[in-house]
Amino acid sequence: MAKTYEFVEHTHDVVVVGAGGAGLRATLGMAEQGLRTACITKVFPTRSHTVAAQGGIAASLKNMTPDCWEWHMYDTVKGSDWLGDTDAMEYLAREAPKAVYELEHYGVPFSRTEDGRIYQRPFGGHMQNYGDGPPVQRTCAAADRTGHAILHTLYGQSLRNNAEFYIEYFALDLIMSEDGVCQGVIAWNLDDGTIHRFTAKMVVLATGGYGRAYFSATSAHTCTGDGGGMVARAGLPLQDMEFVQFHPTGIYGSGCLITEGARGEGGYLVNSEGERFMERYAPSAKDLASRDVVSRCMTMEIREGRGVGKNKDHIFLHLDHLDPAMLAERLPGISESAKIFAGVDVTKEPIPVLPTVHYNMGGIPTNYWGEVLNADGANPNRIQPGLMAVGEAGCASVHGANRLGSNSLIDLVVFGRAAAIRAAEVVDPKTPVPAPNEASCEKIMDRFDRLRHANGSIATADLRDKMQRTMQEDAAVFRTQESLEQGCKRMSSIWGEMKDLKVSDRSMIWNSDLVETLELENLMANAITTVYGAEARKESRGAHAREDYKDGPLGGRNDDDWRKHTLSWVSESGEVKLDYRPVVLDPLTKHEDGGIDPKKIAPKARVY
Ligand code: FUM
Repeated sequence: MAKTYEFVEHTHDVVVVGAGGAGLRATLGMAEQGLRTACITKVFPTRSHTVAAQGGIAASLKNMTPDCWEWHMYDTVKGSDWLGDTDAMEYLAREAPKAVYELEHYGVPFSRTEDGRIYQRPFGGHMQNYGDGPPVQRTCAAADRTGHAILHTLYGQSLRNNAEFYIEYFALDLIMSEDGVCQGVIAWNLDDGTIHRFTAKMVVLATGGYGRAYFSATSAHTCTGDGGGMVARAGLPLQDMEFVQFHPTGIYGSGCLITEGARGEGGYLVNSEGERFMERYAPSAKDLASRDVVSRCMTMEIREGRGVGKNKDHIFLHLDHLDPAMLAERLPGISESAKIFAGVDVTKEPIPVLPTVHYNMGGIPTNYWGEVLNADGANPNRIQPGLMAVGEAGCASVHGANRLGSNSLIDLVVFGRAAAIRAAEVVDPKTPVPAPNEASCEKIMDRFDRLRHANGSIATADLRDKMQRTMQEDAAVFRTQESLEQGCKRMSSIWGEMKDLKVSDRSMIWNSDLVETLELENLMANAITTVYGAEARKESRGAHAREDYKDGPLGGRNDDDWRKHTLSWVSESGEVKLDYRPVVLDPLTKHEDGGIDPKKIAPKARVY
């Protein structure tokens, strides 16, 4: 190893990497149960990307309309386009009310109804009566700053329970024992340049998504798929990476999010002819159809020449017919964003919007306890010892091929909490923490040193730009064999160019050039598996909409051949290997024991 690096040593029962909603909920749960828990985060916890979550968190509290966990589960199954794992979806829908009431008791300042209960708004794809009824009000909101409220509460509670935070530490890689057990993580303290070795009995990856693999995303610049990168380098698989969600309403130009809650409160989309076109595509749910559906309809309107603006390349979102007092109370954050990023007063003018990359359904495969699966076709449920993943970094798979709005915040807290429950069962606080594998640590530091001294001819920002534009063009809302083959070719060639990266700053303190290079390597592992997985999947399902597979009763979905999860590995030289594992079809609870009627969730065409 490059001899200059010395480790500052730490031992814990559990190390959580990431301090967004999932990381903090896991950290809090572990600490509450007396596990010595460290949380490592590259940004200050309350600046994690969950802070940007606006509209709310789904749970069938039935405060404002009739609802039940079975309807929530049905909507999630349908939203996933029948790719979600049934056990995980049941767990999410059943546990959601409990998890939300826990948040309330921890102190989350939810908006309130007249009679003091948690306020709930409608959101896309959430309906009453197994999809047959009108929209359900299921999304619990703290105005349009729900993620912000949750993060602040969970951080405070974690501190109260003596969790230790290592803030502005960048996790480099997982320490793996010779026999494949995860033993901890090595992290770089950005503030003073020291290198820290965290050994632990359990590592929990809660590093968020990789939206920044694309050119235009609602994701923060910090959403660089760091967990996925670490897992890929450890030789473990990623799952269902081809499913990338576009949110219908990113502000045209900046990509900044305008919450679906805006349509939940009565906003609607129009084309250049002033037509509320969603009525044509989704007569029942209209503007509150599932996100993938709305994003595709907007794209079709623009392609057919009915976009708005000088270049007819975007769509208008109207809120100007709504009561200004309601907008000020329920949607103050997006009213401000529309003013800042589009120069629009929402009480008087429409907001220019465009579908924008928002969420990654794929990620690190796990079971519904958050335990990482070192799966392949022959061993679909093999557990990877010492490693968990939660939140957007993980793939439980509760969202399948498409996530419903407000099912992300509930995923973070339900599965962050589940990971803590499971860790308390499998981690024994009385046993010593095993010594780390020195060879693994050496490999991690060799890579770090190589990148720190990279002296090629391509600046990190330039290569990142190339990757982002390729992903935006070739793995977009609509895909074809041609665009995906081109994407594979281009991404493989960009992977090759990583050998020629140039890092100009060699220092160890606040070296953003090196941080961005490490992030680029992480993004690349996520991006290349996305495009290869998409090229291989010869059907349309959820967010994976192929123009060459759109016919038939299921609109291009092929359950006989493709109702299965993609697993992908990427080698150091950029070769992508694919395999598949079955979707979990059995629910947690049999119908006769109080579970959902299996007939209700049997596959059918997905129409809204
Ligand atoms: O539209 C929104 O407020 C986003 C919510 C989500 O992605 O769950």
